[in-house]
Amino acid sequence: MTLLLLLACTGTPVETDDTQDTVPPDTDDSAVPISYVDSPAEAIDLDPADDIVHFELTAARMTHTIGDYVIDGYAYNGQTPGPTLRAKIGDRVIVDFSNELDAVSTIHWHGLTVPYEMDGVLWSQGGVDPGTSFRYEFTLTQAGSFWYHPHVDTAHQVDHGLYGVLIVEDPADPTPDRELVLVFDDWNDPEDEEPDEHDHGRDEGLWTVNGMPDPAVQLTGGQRVRARLFNTSNHGYLDLGGSQLRWIAGDQGLLPSAQSPQTIRLGPGDRADVEWLPGDAGWDVLDHSYSNAGPGFGEPEVRLRVDIAEPTTAGTALDWPFLSGAITPDSPPTLTYVFTGEAGDWFINGERFPNVTVESLPIQQDSVIEVRNLSGSEHPFHLHGMHFEVLSINGTPPPFRTIEDTWNLAVYDRIRVSVRPQNPGFWMAHCHILGHAEEGMMTVIEVQPAR
Ligand code: C2O
Ligand code: CU
Repeated sequence: MTLLLLLACTGTPVETDDTQDTVPPDTDDSAVPISYVDSPAEAIDLDPADDIVHFELTAARMTHTIGDYVIDGYAYNGQTPGPTLRAKIGDRVIVDFSNELDAVSTIHWHGLTVPYEMDGVLWSQGGVDPGTSFRYEFTLTQAGSFWYHPHVDTAHQVDHGLYGVLIVEDPADPTPDRELVLVFDDWNDPEDEEPDEHDHGRDEGLWTVNGMPDPAVQLTGGQRVRARLFNTSNHGYLDLGGSQLRWIAGDQGLLPSAQSPQTIRLGPGDRADVEWLPGDAGWDVLDHSYSNAGPGFGEPEVRLRVDIAEPTTAGTALDWPFLSGAITPDSPPTLTYVFTGEAGDWFINGERFPNVTVESLPIQQDSVIEVRNLSGSEHPFHLHGMHFEVLSINGTPPPFRTIEDTWNLAVYDRIRVSVRPQNPGFWMAHCHILGHAEEGMMTVIEVQPAR
């Protein structure tokens, strides 16, 4: 495995050093040169063995300067997004986490199937105290675009800069000419006393990509690019459109085929990989107005500009080993979750975390969970410790087979998903609008060891 090391200890989040190209003056209304966004710097693998990756992550205070905002926040290893951790299926991952915050923290591996003690949650186990460290250790079983973040005081810690990307490669995938990690997040105005996370409107902050406002990337004509898109916002939705929407992978790896949707909607916590085939002209990645209240009004905003160096004819798509298998037929649920509530008070089955009924599911057997949204807000349903196949949405099978860990429910949506828990433990099930989870919309599923 090749590991790329870029040092980004300058205090400026992800303004990487090797692309100091400037925009040709005629492509922008202002002639101010900008630097292009590149992928976040990657963590160094401290273990020479081919199938062990060993990283160090330190959470500490950090001041983020985002446009006009000066945010008294945090970062992993002095960068937001934190260093990208790259490994491949089957690798043993060791992460030595040091907590230099003045609060308890943890690392949760969003979308990964890990032993319960490694899941970074406080239910029945402790967190990582200030000034102490903890070794996370697990084996990778699934390729995809995952991310990591604390699971203590989550809304606050994530919002202030604690998140990063974990890529699990599948050696069967073709190698693109370039891979880009693009992490979308929105930042609240620090002058704004209490940013309103309950609001139903489009009350997002300033969107950035890899920490840069008004971001642009520069691609080379003719290259085949795998762009991995992440929405790490606490509650902001992305509804991405524009040209070049060749969607190849979701939360848990490749789709059954490349899709060309009108838009790709990413709720908080969601990921999508797209294949870009730049040719002779750039394009804008547009974001259509969308929030947890559904589609909004107004013109789409440019979330990312794509410029082309060396325009030429576009390359042809790579040959991806797409997901095989038919959609699993729908069947009645073994467990049903009903989402209700309103701003400030959110419930699953009428209960607020942590005062919840712990339901249980059998290990290594298929179970069906039904989730119904009877509230006036949308909610991205997220499950720890197990991924799920979507069996039906409002009684209809999904357009294609899809394996997820985060799925957005529109108002009155009813979904059924199939899970096969691999590990014993207490697995959180919650809304990934982090304010909603903190205001009660979280519960626990127990999986008992096999007897
Ligand atoms: Cu990314 Cu429990 O969350
Ligand atoms: Cu929610």
